[in-house]
Amino acid sequence: MHKLLIRVTLTVFITTGAILLALIIVVNHEIAQIFASYLTMSEMMHGGMHGMMNHGMLQPASMGLPEQEFLRSLKHSLFFVGSIMLGLGAIISYYLARSITGPMLTLNKAVKSVAAGNLDTNVIIQRKDELGQLAAAFNEMTKKLKSTTVLRQRFFAGIAHELRTPLTILKANLEGIADGVITPDKEQMDSLSEEVDRLTKLVEELRDLSFLEAGQLKPEFQEIDIGSILYQIVQKSQPLAVDKNLSLTCTIKTQLAPIKADITMVQQIIYNLIINAIRYTNTGSIQVIATQNSTSTIIEVIDTGIGIDQEDLPYIFDYFYRVDLSRTKQSGGTGLGLALVQQMALTHKGKISVQSELDKGSIFRLTLPFNIH
Ligand SMILES: Nc1ncnc2c1ncn2[C@@H]1O[C@H](COP(=O)(O)OP(=O)(O)O)[C@@H](O)[C@H]1O
Ligand SMILES: [Mg+2]
Repeated sequence: MHKLLIRVTLTVFITTGAILLALIIVVNHEIAQIFASYLTMSEMMHGGMHGMMNHGMLQPASMGLPEQEFLRSLKHSLFFVGSIMLGLGAIISYYLARSITGPMLTLNKAVKSVAAGNLDTNVIIQRKDELGQLAAAFNEMTKKLKSTTVLRQRFFAGIAHELRTPLTILKANLEGIADGVITPDKEQMDSLSEEVDRLTKLVEELRDLSFLEAGQLKPEFQEIDIGSILYQIVQKSQPLAVDKNLSLTCTIKTQLAPIKADITMVQQIIYNLIINAIRYTNTGSIQVIATQNSTSTIIEVIDTGIGIDQEDLPYIFDYFYRVDLSRTKQSGGTGLGLALVQQMALTHKGKISVQSELDKGSIFRLTLPFNIH
């Protein structure tokens, strides 16, 4: 069962024992030597020639009873201390081994629990050493695994949900037409066509996302004039802003250095941000502002719209996350826009951040570094 515990205990114990044994043998030998030469010396001084003839070799016969007794008691003490130390060594070996294998057993249990699907498993090992670090890394890994699993579940639920609504509408209308309850006039056909468009958009965004995440959608980096791209997109979005009585402006603060980027992706990012700003703003304005610092071009899309609650803010880049479901459904969003924007920004080694206040408005900031390698 606890093979490692036994092995580590035995290894430490045997090593300690062997060192101790060697020490006792050496000390014992040394004492005998020193004692022998002491006796020889004293015999030489008192016994003259007789002592000399023994050439310093210790003869038991030359030892008197008191000397033999002294040597024996010395050996006794030596073995007594040796045994105590050996016993202590055994206890220390065991605790040392336990301090290593104990956390490992805890971790082992935790790994098995995660493998069995319990992603809430957390190991508590209050240590700063390698085992403590291993436990912390394990906890971090489990946390990531859990969030990935939750995201995946939400992703599939989102797809199912997004597909169901247009399909239900199409099916009901087609049945109505077949039964003669609905007349297939132009208006009817346009509305059905809109549902098909929504499905097509969803499928396209899903495809782009999966390609981007798998690294299969290779960006075509080329030098682009970000200023003129911004003007073009703002121009293209103007009618949508006018429809809602919103002012849409574009300001380029400094002479922007050309950047290397995939033109289609950059267009898509900016367009998505502008469409969101228009969609989630009822009155006021949308400003697109471009500046740059020493390392990057910074593009901000600032609106005076409904804003986003601080609680929702960390999730708006997740798949299918919407703050207000009913509202976005009407306006035709798929809930994938910002997820795509984030992936595309990452492809450019850039980042997208957001600042928002409820009922005041939002600022989406895209940072595109000059150096993408
Ligand atoms: N400019 C904005 N102002 C307020 N809320 C926003 C803004 N942009 C995005 N959101 C919120 O973030 C959610 C996710 O955005 P997005 O991924 O583009 O999906 P959608 O298809 O719903 O637009 C939106 O449903 C909305 O609730
Ligand atoms: Mg959107």
